[in-house]
Amino acid sequence: TYIIAEPCVDVMDRACVEECPVDCIYEGGRSLYIQPDECVDCGACEPVCPVEAIFYEDDVPDEWEPYVSANVDFFVELGSPGGASKVGKTDFDPAFIKALPPMGE
Ligand code: F3S
Ligand code: F3S
Repeated sequence: TYIIAEPCVDVMDRACVEECPVDCIYEGGRSLYIQPDECVDCGACEPVCPVEAIFYEDDVPDEWEPYVSANVDFFVELGSPGGASKVGKTDFDPAFIKALPPMGE
């Protein structure tokens, strides 16, 4: 799967959402998250993110390793809805992301 890491926090550009053929990029309160079971590893989202927040799971920089589990934990309650557009915006974020100081510009 691909992972959305820290540069997305409070930026939430959403260009990635337009590219994903399986609509598996879901919106939390401060970041977006890729549903790991729904992502088909097409990689279309990765180059379009203007802040380079998206990585293949094996290529996540060490400093952002916690985001691998964040992209799993985001879906503990949500499960695998099979499409982000019907879910819409949620106000959930994993605890360490919720606790971050304001990010972006
Ligand atoms: Fe975030 Fe980049 Fe997508 S900022 S919403 S991962 S285009
Ligand atoms: Fe979608 Fe990106 Fe995965 S475009 S299928 S989330 S690699």
